[in-house]
This record gives sequence, structure tokens and C-alpha cells, in this order.
Amino acid sequence: MNEEQSEKTPNPRISRVVGVASGKGGVGKSTIAVLLAQAFAARGLRVGILDADITGPSVPRLLGVDSFRAEADDGKLVPIKSDEGIEVMSINFLIDEETRPVIWRGPLLSQAVKQFWTDTAWGDLDRLVVDLPPGTSDVMLTALQSLPFDGLVFAATPQDFVSMIVAKAVHMAGQTNTRALGLVVNMESLVCPHCGQEIPLFSGENSDAPDLGMPILARIPWRADLARKRHLLWDGLSEEVRRSASDLAEGVEATLARAEAR
Ligand SMILES: Nc1ncnc2c1ncn2[C@@H]1O[C@H](COP(=O)(O)OP(=O)(O)O)[C@@H](O)[C@H]1O
Ligand SMILES: [Mg+2]
Repeated sequence: MNEEQSEKTPNPRISRVVGVASGKGGVGKSTIAVLLAQAFAARGLRVGILDADITGPSVPRLLGVDSFRAEADDGKLVPIKSDEGIEVMSINFLIDEETRPVIWRGPLLSQAVKQFWTDTAWGDLDRLVVDLPPGTSDVMLTALQSLPFDGLVFAATPQDFVSMIVAKAVHMAGQTNTRALGLVVNMESLVCPHCGQEIPLFSGENSDAPDLGMPILARIPWRADLARKRHLLWDGLSEEVRRSASDLAEGVEATLARAEAR
């Protein structure tokens, strides 16, 4: 990986680009990306989400915009706006049926991510959240090399084998000079929907919060409303979930500000 391979085209209309990564699938990346975007929007920021998970896109559904199809205007894709005004671009807006798989080889998948950055008519955005694909292969590498990230938030569940895999993505970020902002520890405990008691989900010696050499920005417990809700619309979320999301947004903002002041 040398400088020549990285060709980051800045977009003057987008102030900050924050990726949500993990290396591992199923740990809550998309959920966290959506919550972070919503919490930014709740702070009055203009927000977009670029869904870079081409083979497993889930952002449109989480934001309740999965029935929309994107159109092109003047050679650019027009993002879809969620009820909260969040601009979204996802491969789901370009395929006929949500359940049809995108059967493309690596280079084509990578191309799609690049195009979502360069060929989408993003409006003026204070924050663009990027839901990164799991793994450390082609698409992730292309994303890290072609999008001008201000930083990445890593998502992990407190399990030994998850930390091991997330550590690979953290290394990849380091090798591409992408700043790690911090970690979100997800689903560490379960909040009983009946009595409100918090029960650790991964108790045992390997259940400690993963030490990935970065600060923990937020801890989001397993919550029934996050698991069951089809759409994670801000007004429909529980107070607790909104608080976790707001803490995360605050942590990201503070870390970005500190990093930029250096
Ligand atoms: N804090 C949470 N509480 C309850 N369910 C969660 C939580 N975080 C994620 N989930 C659920 O776990 C599954 C995986 O989450 P998702 O965000 O799709 O992960 P990823 O994008 O990393 O694959 C989804 O069914 C999601 O609803
Ligand atoms: Mg996902």
C-alpha cells in the first residue's frame, strides 16, 4: 500500500466523514451507524449515510426507506432522504428486488463503493457516516483508500474471538493511515425488558471489554427494541437507546475535535 494507490477525492460539501467498521459481521455495525447518524441529526447536524456494505446492505431498511429506488440526475445518483432528513445511498436503491443478491466479483463491489462517494449528488452535509463492510478484503481496502475518512468507529461485542478479528480491521486502518476514533462495545449485557436488570451476556474470563488500544466511546446493551424494531426511527426509540446513541455522537465529536486540535 503506497501513496500512489490512494486517490482520495475530497467533497467540499461534506465536512466530516466517519466510518463504522468492525472486521466482523453481526456485531451491530449497521445498527450503530444508523444510531450515530440519527444522534447527529438530533443535534441539528445535516447528515448522510453511505452504505458501503454492498453484499449485505441494511441501512435502507433500518431507516425505513427500503421501498425507494434511486434516480440519476445529471449523471449523479440522487440520495434518498429518510423521514429525519438523513440522506442515504445504498446498493438497495439500485436493484429491483431487495432479496436478490448482488453477485459481483471484488473489483465491481469496490467500484460501487467508490461511486457512492464520487457519483452521488450529496447535499451539504456536516457528517457523512459510512457503514463499512465486514472483513478486511477488497471493498474495505478500497473504501479506506478512496474515501477521505476523518476517523473510524469500531464496533465489537466483548468476546475474545471478535476482538481478534476486529484487531485485523484496526491494523488495516493503521496501514492506510486512517484514524481510529474509538470503540463501541455492543451487546455486552442484556437489559431485562420486564425488570430492567442488566445481565452480562458474555460472562467469563474472556468477556472483558476488548483492549484494542483505543478509548471506549459507548457501551450499548442488548435491548429488545433494537433487536425487534424494523425501523430505527429516532422518535420511536426508547429513551435509553437514544441516550446511548447521543453519548456515542458526543464521544465522536469530542474525539474528532481533539484530533484536529493536535
Ligand atoms: N444493542 C443491540 N441490542 C439488540 N440487538 C442488536 C443490538 N445491536 C445489534 N443488534 C441486532 O444484531 C443483529 C446484527 O446487527 P447489525 O447492525 O446488522 O450488525 P452488522 O452490521 O455488524 O452485521 C441485528 O439483528 C440487530 O438488530
Ligand atoms: Mg451491517
